Amino acid sequence: MKSNTPFKMSMSKISSFIDSVTYTAPSNIALIKYWGKKPVQLPCNASLSFTLNNCHTKTRVSYKKKEAINDEFNFQFFFEGAPKPSFEPKLQSFFERIEAYCPFLKEYEFLIESENSFPHSSGIASSASAMAALASCLVAIESKIEGTDFTTAEKNQKASRLARLGSGSAARSIEGPIMVWGKHDLVTGSNDDYAVVFDKPIAPIFQNFQDTILLIDKGEKQVSSTVGHGLMKNHPFAKQRFLEANKNLSVLSKCLVDGDMETFIKIVEHEALSLHAMMLTSDPYFILLKPNTLKAIEEIRAFRKKTGINICFTLDAGANLHVLYPNSHKKEVLHFIDNVLYLITKGQGYICDYIGNGVENI
Ligand code: DP6
Repeated sequence: MKSNTPFKMSMSKISSFIDSVTYTAPSNIALIKYWGKKPVQLPCNASLSFTLNNCHTKTRVSYKKKEAINDEFNFQFFFEGAPKPSFEPKLQSFFERIEAYCPFLKEYEFLIESENSFPHSSGIASSASAMAALASCLVAIESKIEGTDFTTAEKNQKASRLARLGSGSAARSIEGPIMVWGKHDLVTGSNDDYAVVFDKPIAPIFQNFQDTILLIDKGEKQVSSTVGHGLMKNHPFAKQRFLEANKNLSVLSKCLVDGDMETFIKIVEHEALSLHAMMLTSDPYFILLKPNTLKAIEEIRAFRKKTGINICFTLDAGANLHVLYPNSHKKEVLHFIDNVLYLITKGQGYICDYIGNGVENI
């Protein structure tokens, strides 16, 4: 489901630009978490994620050659139809980081227009989908203006590398359905530079796997991921955490092939809680879980025990809960969500998503 609605921009704004490209990029949810990085934007452990489908960013980049070349990046950024200067410093440092890979950047002026399929105050992290969409546009622009004839693999690798330099987890939003970012001995081709598609045949139970995101807290995050990653530098448990994440990825990799749901659930929930355990034990510590996150976790465990349905949860760096379950149990789980978990969201609701395939040129 990709929106083909026109951007909320007046055509007069873009008429002076010679050409444009548009991409949608989905969000992704990590099952094995990336938490801790080294310069520049390289992960301290391998991570693995489900690419999502419905939660996505649509970005159009219009461009024209500068009349006089200067030593600056010239871009304007519009979010959902309005200029958003608060995002410009992030874009400026992104352009600085990627310049070595995109030497044309200072020769052009760019108009970047972006919108999300999910409400911006939902507390859903948007940097992964935003950076993946923008990176994909820039690779397509390079191909057009330089005439570079990328193979699909080269295009995806480059987009993932650029996206990573914007936001680490964005590296995993280019393709799907399951992505690995960071070198891991069991995943062919895996590396720290860009994400790769999980290389093994996946058990049928994971086809159309569902992710319903419970909106427990729509507020702004108290701590940015970047600050959180930084706190892993002197964290007393960091070394052990990085080893454990890589070990968990080995175990999970086997579950994905065998369809071993019991172990899958154990690892996925353990990873979510380990991520938050790192935050709880950093200096300074921070608590992103809310009482209602814990309440919903209790209900999910009770429902699993009572029904035997393979439902589990994961978390990103916030209070919202991702409820994961096989498509075959969608009806029962949605009934449970509507009757039990929805009340815990205090009317803020939920967003239904499922495993998807990455960016699309539209
Ligand atoms: C908890 O990718 O948002 O979602 O690289 O600083 O932009 P930066 O961080 P970011 O961190 C994501 C952390 C996470 C886990 C994950 O997605 O693996």
